[in-house]
Amino acid sequence: MKKALKIIGISLLVIFIGLQAVPVDRSNPPEIADSQIPEEVKAILKPKCYDCHSNESTWPWYTYVAPLSWWIADHVHEGRREVNYSLWDTYSEDKQEQKLEETYDEILDEFMPLESYLITHPEAKVTDDEFDIIEQWLDGDL
Ligand code: HEC
Repeated sequence: MKKALKIIGISLLVIFIGLQAVPVDRSNPPEIADSQIPEEVKAILKPKCYDCHSNESTWPWYTYVAPLSWWIADHVHEGRREVNYSLWDTYSEDKQEQKLEETYDEILDEFMPLESYLITHPEAKVTDDEFDIIEQWLDGDL
């Protein structure tokens, strides 16, 4: 019994170490074109959304531990595909308008930041005062 447990333990350890060899893309593409986002808004989005929606993602130590790293990198890649604030200035006017509305809706419905992100970043929750600023952005008041 003890021996079986030991074999299982060692096997899991070997698998875990093997998983670390699978490459994970944690690159941050260079282009940063977000000057058309008002500074007040950027001050909110940067610390709360840019990890998944920009080319300025931070990659803490646990993003280097498989299989967690695969799951997190997937969020970043999918997030960037949905909206990448680093490329905001390159979006057409229509696309900016659409992404602005989505940004507002996602925060309003508390879908963003992702719940799993809030576990390690509780301070990323958007406050009412911050939401007011997003609303002003939507209304064209900034
Ligand atoms: C941990 C990564 C992560 C963080 C942090 C994060 N997002 Fe997302 N976001 C995603 C992923 C993944 C998707 C695509 C899947 C989905 O919609 O759930 C997404 C989708 C979106 C979309 C597109 C939704 C649609 O209508 O299709 C918007 C807009 C968005 N996020 C805004 C934000 C805003 C604003 C913040 C900060 C307040 C934020 N996100 C924080 C990962 C993240």
